[in-house]
Amino acid sequence: MKAHIVTLPGDGVGPEVTAAAVAVLQAVAEHYDHQFTFEEHLIGGCAIDASGEPLPAASLEACKKADAVLLGAVGGPKWSDPNAKVRPEQGLLALRAALGVYANLRPLQVHPALANLSPLKNEKLKDVDVLFVRELTGGAYFGAKTRTADAATDECRYTEAEIERVVRRAFALARERRHHLTSVDKANVLETSRLWRNVVQRIAPEYRDVKVEHQLVDSMAMLLLTQPGRYDVVVTENLFGDILTDEAAALAGSLGLLPSASLGDGKRGLYEPIHGSAPDIAGQGVANPTGAMLSAAMLLRHSLGLEEEAQCVEAAVSHVLAHGPRTRDVGGQGNTAAVRDAVLMAVEDHASTHHAFFA
Ligand code: NAD
Ligand code: IPM
Ligand code: MN
Repeated sequence: MKAHIVTLPGDGVGPEVTAAAVAVLQAVAEHYDHQFTFEEHLIGGCAIDASGEPLPAASLEACKKADAVLLGAVGGPKWSDPNAKVRPEQGLLALRAALGVYANLRPLQVHPALANLSPLKNEKLKDVDVLFVRELTGGAYFGAKTRTADAATDECRYTEAEIERVVRRAFALARERRHHLTSVDKANVLETSRLWRNVVQRIAPEYRDVKVEHQLVDSMAMLLLTQPGRYDVVVTENLFGDILTDEAAALAGSLGLLPSASLGDGKRGLYEPIHGSAPDIAGQGVANPTGAMLSAAMLLRHSLGLEEEAQCVEAAVSHVLAHGPRTRDVGGQGNTAAVRDAVLMAVEDHASTHHAFFA
């Protein structure tokens, strides 16, 4: 098949991990006979430096025409002055809003070979397989902001329609998995959470085969550490989802491991690892490209409908996590390029074994 993919490497380790993910997509194209074209654009701090804007019009236009968008990370100390007029992160938020990608899927699995890197005891990590569905285009991220000399506000606003579409997506995903949905809110304090809970309760009868539970976010943060194995699909609002998924990444062993897919109503999606620009290791070539590569697998699955190819990438990444090389954050000494090359070889092996098998 033909697909046009826009890449937005961004800042810090963004370009390092995105290059590895693009190499994986190119290998998939070669071994499975697809034609993928890539078009790179600026976003974030590098875009501010080049044009004054965190999301230049040319970048957004290209994304709107693409079949899928692959993003690295934005931000860094250079642009982090709390009094700055414009910030890299605004570019990412504007992109998510403009593409209408309201459902951010963040899967968490613990690779058995990495279980000893997790701060949790191994026995707690058995059976951990959680799909977080984070609302991505509403809440405090997008509400009105005010600032005076000595006060500031961030309005947290949700409409019923915004809640309903992401909750329905989560129910549908639960149906494809273990039929268990946990909705996380702060309904004991926040009005937006009470609206959220009402919506979940109203539509739950349409999904009688899915068991629903509500959990307050503070205790959820605890339960994620004490009983991670009991969750299937977890749906929550934007800010809670941001925080809980970085916590979840610690269970897997490193923030560098987790991918994400941001989806709207159409096929086009935005794919990015959940980590940031990692300024402390940027430029050294040692960033873990796993989250970015697994995001590329999600791109193959969700935007291009290439399930077999997605599984090939996932199997290749899993093989390399088990057998090395590994980057420092997951206890190895390999650099980004070494991991990339090992994954490319594993993709080739997997694809050729498959073709031989089915030929
Ligand atoms: P971060 O995710 O960049 O880094 C947190 C820690 O995790 C660091 O020690 C870093 O070295 C490590 N880490 C992250 N990714 C890694 C990888 N691939 N391999 C190995 N180690 C990795 O979070 P932060 O330091 O809080 O934020 C830094 C900047 O990134 C901020 O400007 C923030 O706004 C931005 N950010 C961007 C995105 C995004 O673009 N999607 C996401 C999160 C943070
Ligand atoms: C993420 C990041 C972003 C978020 C920032 C950089 C705007 O932390 O993708 O998780 O908070 O959504
Ligand atoms: Mn985050």
